[in-house]
Amino acid sequence: MKFPITRPRRLRKNQIIRDMVAETTLSIDDFVYPIFVIEGKDIKNPVKSMPGIYQLSLEHAVEEAKEAYDLGIKSIILFGIPEKKDEVGSQAYAEDGIIAKAINKIKSKLPDLIVIADACLCEYTSHGHCGILDKDGNVLNDPTLELLKKEAYVYAKMGADIIAPSGMMDGMVKAIRESLDENGFEDVAIMSYSAKYSSSFYGPFRDAAESAPAFGDRKSYQMDFRNANEAIKEIMLDIEEGADFVMVKPALAYLDVIRIAKEQFPYMPIAAYNVSGEYSMVKAAGKMGWVDENSITIEILTAIKRAGADLIITYFAKDMAKLIRGQS
Ligand code: PBG
Repeated sequence: MKFPITRPRRLRKNQIIRDMVAETTLSIDDFVYPIFVIEGKDIKNPVKSMPGIYQLSLEHAVEEAKEAYDLGIKSIILFGIPEKKDEVGSQAYAEDGIIAKAINKIKSKLPDLIVIADACLCEYTSHGHCGILDKDGNVLNDPTLELLKKEAYVYAKMGADIIAPSGMMDGMVKAIRESLDENGFEDVAIMSYSAKYSSSFYGPFRDAAESAPAFGDRKSYQMDFRNANEAIKEIMLDIEEGADFVMVKPALAYLDVIRIAKEQFPYMPIAAYNVSGEYSMVKAAGKMGWVDENSITIEILTAIKRAGADLIITYFAKDMAKLIRGQS
């Protein structure tokens, strides 16, 4: 009888050996935690489709940021729900807009927490699109860039560390870089949602941010999910325009795109957004008892990292931080 000489099972013999040879390990440093901030006082609205996630008024958003920070989370990303929306999304770039105020408040309380400001118009426009419209309802690219420049400037002025344009307008990184540099914010970084797909996985987020488009869809600006190589073009353009981080979004159904991004641009930090739909599916199946929530979450986030992500934006950040710290 001939026995195998190479026995991969030797390295799987027990947990200690498995830990020693593990190629990928999740760390709290990998996570960015999203927070939804709503105009008003003493509001804590649970988002129905996202158990554990709330629309928080300013004072509660600060508490939430503090809780994340105390768990060791290094960074949060902010989304706003304004009181009033209009055609041109003016609350996105008003100096007393909800996110402007939130950045200011959070950075004054927690100066070491890295605050990422999502820069888009969809939460602030009455029609819910990520830019301004012509009379036929088409999103106008270049006039929208002018508004994103204002939005980025206001968020930087309020103390944001990183501006994250998510509207998939052509040239948005260059426009924002110019606006920041012209105003003395050359140290403020840009994390571009470079390869952002038009995806059904954003459904629950649109409940949370009240940002569903009133008509049509986002297919004329977000990417077609049938395309992976096109992501190389989008990412390359953003790097040329001055992006400091590039993002792939969603994450779980786009691991191939994350891998391509890391292989093509190994010198760039790659962020992956584990989006709302990915979160809600796990929460729902976990609640039903059909999957084990924590172990499936670790497996999903590890897979995202294994594919090549350096950072993961995830609604699970607090849960995972507690788990890693042995607090749950
Ligand atoms: C805004 C934006 C969206 C998400 C992040 N920024 C929604 C969209 O494009 O419709 C989705 C995040 C998630 O689903 O968790 N443009």
